[in-house]
Amino acid sequence: MIVLGINETSHDAAACLIKDGEILFAGHAERYSKLKNDWYLNDDLINDLMSYGKPDAIAYYEKPFSKKLRLSLRGGLGDWKPRFDIADIPRSSFNHHYSHACAGYFTSKFNDAVIVVLDAIGEWNTSTIWVGKGTEITQKYKKNYPVSFGLFYSAFTKLIGLMPNQEEYIMMGMAGYGDPNKYLYKVSQYFPDINTQKYNFHKGISDWDEPITEKNKFDIAASVQKVYELRLNEFMHFAYKITGKENLVFMGGCALNSSANTMLWNIFKNVWIMPNPGDAGSSLGAAAAFYGKHLNWNGPYLGHDLGGEYPVKKIVEKILNDKIAAVATGRAEFGPRALGNRSILADPRDPDIKDKVNLIKQRELFRPFAPVVLEEHAPSWFDMNFKSPYMQYTVKCLKPNIIPSVVHVDGTSRVQTVSKSENPGLWEVVNKFYEKTGVPVLLNTSLNIKGQPLLNDREDIKEWEIAYGTEILQ
Ligand SMILES: [Fe+2]
Repeated sequence: MIVLGINETSHDAAACLIKDGEILFAGHAERYSKLKNDWYLNDDLINDLMSYGKPDAIAYYEKPFSKKLRLSLRGGLGDWKPRFDIADIPRSSFNHHYSHACAGYFTSKFNDAVIVVLDAIGEWNTSTIWVGKGTEITQKYKKNYPVSFGLFYSAFTKLIGLMPNQEEYIMMGMAGYGDPNKYLYKVSQYFPDINTQKYNFHKGISDWDEPITEKNKFDIAASVQKVYELRLNEFMHFAYKITGKENLVFMGGCALNSSANTMLWNIFKNVWIMPNPGDAGSSLGAAAAFYGKHLNWNGPYLGHDLGGEYPVKKIVEKILNDKIAAVATGRAEFGPRALGNRSILADPRDPDIKDKVNLIKQRELFRPFAPVVLEEHAPSWFDMNFKSPYMQYTVKCLKPNIIPSVVHVDGTSRVQTVSKSENPGLWEVVNKFYEKTGVPVLLNTSLNIKGQPLLNDREDIKEWEIAYGTEILQ
């Protein structure tokens, strides 16, 4: 049986197709429509998906009645109704947090785990704890709106002039430049413990009485990140205490906070964060909830297929000669990070490369870049004893002088470990660079311009090459 999973009518619309436990396709609407965080599916995405098979059932993310009720209480439904439908196909819908839990647990290798979901808000839930055992997922705890980890973080994102629900990752990067203690007490008053918040953050921060200057923004970001980490630590200890499980599945938009995620390894023995833990990933969660069993997870390369072999030789030559290479090949990543198939790769030893890549991408110059390291060499270059194949953890760099362009101002790096099994082409590229230079690390950043979705298909590649005059290797 083929099941189509859909997330529509809120940010990050996405769709996926599964067949008897195999994930045939999973893709983001924005990559096709070019509208960042697009709310709705589009014909190009659906046509791409349908080329992998015709669905026998549709699984929608979110329970329409509860969602409608909450939106109407908030002051209006807006353009709420899902647009996509196929006549005569049976459809079901699944609870927001339950879909997050299914997306995480059913893509994990665990048969017994605690599942923590933290985001801004589902229908009503904001923080939930579940236990997954075999094929059963049972809720153990829930916290409802308005106390919300996600709304707290987004409200401060807005306060410092960034776009809430979209630019939280920029505030996380800014935190490294600020003084976390400057507003620690003040910010912690807004979120004093995991059960209490000062007020409803949906309406933003209404009583901040300090000036918001260019310098203060970084201190606010650092203090918010610190408070978020303190509360996350409390919440995860609570989840461990009430379930006693040593395997953690962490899902929801909050699981994208790579700086905070590293602490999870101090509390749990094993951690799984699906590479698309936010709402887009819950299209897969709804389909998995319908299927009700573990899926066969072979990696995040599930989107539009450009075909072709990974252009190893061309990339290595380009990096050794010009220091920077853009690559687009094979299937697009399902998730917000470019993990080698829609990436800009660069020599991390050159201290000026960071500014050069930032200029290409038109990003703020303070924004850090991430390294991709051969999995087998990761512990000697970074302070880590776990794998990070999807760039989900920030750790201390042990050799910052050798690879300065992938080290943040606070001495950390958001690491991607690459293995031969999950992305053999990218592994080969980094390994060849290692053989030539003795450095098993490259800079890896997404192939896009700031604020725009990642490049997806041949048309995007052509447009980029004409606009920027740089070749994309395929
Ligand atoms: Fe969510």
